[in-house]
Amino acid sequence: MRNVLLATAGALVLLSACNGGGADDNNALAEANATGNEASAAIENAVQQSNATPVQKEQALALMKERHEVYERIGKAMKVVSRELKAGTPDLAQVRQNAGTIAELAPKVQGWFPAGTGPDVGKTGAKAEIWAKPEDFAAKSRDFTQAAQAFQTAANGNDLAAIRSAHGNLGKSCKACHDLYREDDH
Ligand code: HEC
Repeated sequence: MRNVLLATAGALVLLSACNGGGADDNNALAEANATGNEASAAIENAVQQSNATPVQKEQALALMKERHEVYERIGKAMKVVSRELKAGTPDLAQVRQNAGTIAELAPKVQGWFPAGTGPDVGKTGAKAEIWAKPEDFAAKSRDFTQAAQAFQTAANGNDLAAIRSAHGNLGKSCKACHDLYREDDH
């Protein structure tokens, strides 16, 4: 499971690195092919062409599915943390481990939404507003990353009040984005 997710995250980072265009695209694509990761190269092609063929659309759908799965992983980590922090004596080892998972995945959010992976392409909880307001969405992603890092830092200490407070801020950063950019029912 972990390997699959790491591979996924790698492919997505590669994708986001490609969005700048130019030589980097070629390098990233060459790298994708060199590592045998043809799926990510195909997704890259799919998201760069507006008139996607069915095969390219399939790749976009694969990315959307992976994106959703990684969010589920963030959600699970958050659930463990919330459960522990509600307890009188939280298991700090578990809190730290899951804080680490969230902090590792948070910076990747921004790269998960290339053009061509919205609700017009397939079933997704991502609203079209993401692509209409890219700057605000990027700001929400940055807030999330900062809150996740602050939470990880707090979790690595022993000050429970500070850990709980940083956890509250992290939860607010999830909600700030979900309120605007995620479908409630999908
Ligand atoms: C910058 C925006 C943003 C932030 C920040 C964010 N999310 Fe999400 N989240 C989304 C979007 C958009 C989706 C829908 C993705 C999809 O279906 O492809 C989503 C989906 C999810 C899902 C999948 C299940 C569902 O209801 O769609 C979970 C679980 C989740 N997020 C949890 C979290 C948690 C927990 C945090 C904070 C620790 C968080 N998210 C932070 C935008 C965000």
